[in-house]
Amino acid sequence: MAISHLIELFLLIEVTIFSAQFSVHALSMDYYGMQCPFTESIVRNTVSKALQKDPTLSGPLLRMHFHDCFVEGCDGSILIDSTKNNKAEKDSPANLSLRGYELIDEIKEEIEDQCPGVISCADIVAMAARDAVLWAGGPLYDVPKGRKDGTRSKIEDTINLPPPTFNGSDLIKAFRQHGFSVQEMVALSGAHTLGVARCSSFKNRLSNFDSTDGVDPTLNSNFAKTLSQKCKSGDNAEAPFDRTRITFDNDYYNALQSGSGLLTSDQTLYGSPRTRSIVNGYAMNQARFFFDFSQAMVRMGQIDVKEDNEGEIRLNCHKIN
Ligand code: HEM
Repeated sequence: MAISHLIELFLLIEVTIFSAQFSVHALSMDYYGMQCPFTESIVRNTVSKALQKDPTLSGPLLRMHFHDCFVEGCDGSILIDSTKNNKAEKDSPANLSLRGYELIDEIKEEIEDQCPGVISCADIVAMAARDAVLWAGGPLYDVPKGRKDGTRSKIEDTINLPPPTFNGSDLIKAFRQHGFSVQEMVALSGAHTLGVARCSSFKNRLSNFDSTDGVDPTLNSNFAKTLSQKCKSGDNAEAPFDRTRITFDNDYYNALQSGSGLLTSDQTLYGSPRTRSIVNGYAMNQARFFFDFSQAMVRMGQIDVKEDNEGEIRLNCHKIN
């Protein structure tokens, strides 16, 4: 075979793999324009009312979208309740601290009143995450809509969620599987500018290391003391990822620079030269972080979106029709 044919074949395989990994179905910005023109404002107003009451909900809403998309694609499968015969994603240890389900229900109810059977739960999760980011002071990005709700939610699929103990190369691999570059992975990790983690997610760093005090040597020693103190109250004690837990900003990257990244998977981004330069770039330039984060979120929101015949518009987000 001539070299030019080999190159063509290689390119074809590459394109096919890429589009299979990252297929963009018929999503569009004004998907519900005619059928339900007030969708966006219903979501925005309901999210904003809820966050005025409880600003700490912004993190959980953003995390819910991530956990939906990384498991079986963005198909609202995270919202499905377990049944007698099926343990759903929701009940996986990785999802037990997720919050915000009631808010998604409230939005869905209001939308169903206006336009029954039209708007998917998966789209509501994507829009709510976006509005939470904006409400918390982060960037505004437009979410293409038209996702269908999935009909599968199995606890075992949550194996695809990256655990907090992942190191740099594990993270790169996990995100590459969904078509993301290293830069996009670091930008998406910046979602940890919002919210908290519980001791159970970071206590691995406070003992068992091969250092004199057993503490992860990449952890700032004063920060380690604060965390150890906190964890005395038990596995559910919470610590914020950065100094501004309800504000979407670039302080998360400053935290990594000072050895105050909360999870192994956070601090590791400052550990290798490849990701450290990206961290430094975002710590120096918030606008750049906002731009890259927005673009990566739009891409994340399109992971394995279901075609019309592969999904449904769930009438109740908690169960398959
Ligand atoms: C890079 C790999 C990631 C890992 C290993 C990871 C892991 C975790 C863990 C362990 C927690 C704390 C859970 C707890 O203790 O209750 C957490 C919280 C959070 N994650 Fe991630 N995450 C990652 C990426 C992301 C991404 C891509 C997003 C969104 C785009 C995200 C959004 C959040 C938010 C906002 C919180 C705080 C939630 C709250 O306040 O309740 N994470 N993450």
